[in-house]
Amino acid sequence: MDKLIITGGAPINGEIRISGAKNAALPILAATLLAEGPMKVSNVPHLQDITTTMELLGEMGVHLVVDEKLNIESDPRSIKSFYAPYNLVKTMRASILVLGPLVAKYGRAEVSLPGGCAIGSRPVNLHVDGLKQMGAEIDIENGYIKAKAKRLKGAKLIMDVVSVTGTENLMMAAALAKGTTLIENAAREPEVVDLAKCLIKMGAKIHGAGTSTIAIEGVDQLKGIEYEVLPDRIETGTYLVAGAISGGRVKLKDTRPDMLDAVIVKLQEAGAIIETGDDWVSLDMQGNRPRAVDIHTAPYPAFPTDMQAQFCALNAIAEGSSVIRETVFENRFMHINELQRLGANVRMEGNNAFIRGVSKLKAAPVMATDLRASASLVLAGMVAHGDTEVQRIYHIDRGYERIEEKLQQLGAIIRRVAD
Ligand code: EPU
Repeated sequence: MDKLIITGGAPINGEIRISGAKNAALPILAATLLAEGPMKVSNVPHLQDITTTMELLGEMGVHLVVDEKLNIESDPRSIKSFYAPYNLVKTMRASILVLGPLVAKYGRAEVSLPGGCAIGSRPVNLHVDGLKQMGAEIDIENGYIKAKAKRLKGAKLIMDVVSVTGTENLMMAAALAKGTTLIENAAREPEVVDLAKCLIKMGAKIHGAGTSTIAIEGVDQLKGIEYEVLPDRIETGTYLVAGAISGGRVKLKDTRPDMLDAVIVKLQEAGAIIETGDDWVSLDMQGNRPRAVDIHTAPYPAFPTDMQAQFCALNAIAEGSSVIRETVFENRFMHINELQRLGANVRMEGNNAFIRGVSKLKAAPVMATDLRASASLVLAGMVAHGDTEVQRIYHIDRGYERIEEKLQQLGAIIRRVAD
């Protein structure tokens, strides 16, 4: 198993290119199942989760061609199985995204329940209940969601909780249903909007994506198209924190700063000078130590839970005290124990972390527990005194494309070694 070794204290100053968004590419690849012909998806990030999705589609019989730039051509016409096995779903919960497209287009699906997760219980009841309301017959048996439907019917779906993949799954299913579906309390994340744009280009009739009510008028067929995935706002935010935590300067290109308003405000509050253009953002800390900032996570457009861990690392070495409140997932503080191993001063109380900034962190071996937690440990390692060893980095490879190369480009001293 690989690990990352980071020598703290290197000055950070550089420019990098942001990759396509993992959390948009995953539903868009699932949406290729809905097409009558081949689809070409570009700006796909080179990540383990993408490989897992391709394995999943490939096992179903979807014909996939990938070029050297990781443009993925996906032709669902050769599909022969409608099955998502436990061994793949357990490694990537987003596999549940094939459920809606399979039932809507092929009238059947057998998708494993995802099971446990390091950041909270993460049920999929909203996905299942929504499809049932659209007329699917669903049994949960032997750990699998077994779904059947002739043709799904439009329905009014009121989501109890704002769910990103729940909204995406039901929007994909509704695109081919008979009649109109309303999704109330829909997720407003930019990745939901990107999927809607892709579906609209395929011929779907969708209104209101990006607001909390999405109306989908079902159509009979969707066509294969070419689509370019939007940039990754969480990768962008993570590298902005890399600049902020180290007192450095970064410029990030091929991104969309308008998707990061809540994060940018917090970085400015921490003392960063931020400049933006349509497709770039730069941060300059002018050598200063960041100031502590309070964070309250909530669905978009509020502060993203996927940036919470990185701000825990920032606050750990900031001047002053802060409270970080996680409201989206019930157990997304696994990084705190590891940050404490590096010398962070944190007290936990339920979903709140009270952090008193220290002037110095000290290197230690630490262990990644989930994707964003791993990123926070790498960031902390960049400012810890000595060599921090981050173990179990397969988590990081699920969501950050070539993280060590990009950080090296910014000036960090980081290397990957095989255990
Ligand atoms: N929830 C339910 N029932 C459901 C679905 C969700 O109660 O049927 C609850 C969850 O337990 C959670 C809340 O709703 O408390 C929000 O979860 P959501 O469904 O929005 O999460 P998700 O769709 O499984 C996506 C991202 C996550 C990101 C969350 C929140 C993808 C593939 N994943 O997950 O990304 O944290 O939205 O923004 O889009 C990551 O990239 O590191 C990551 C975990």
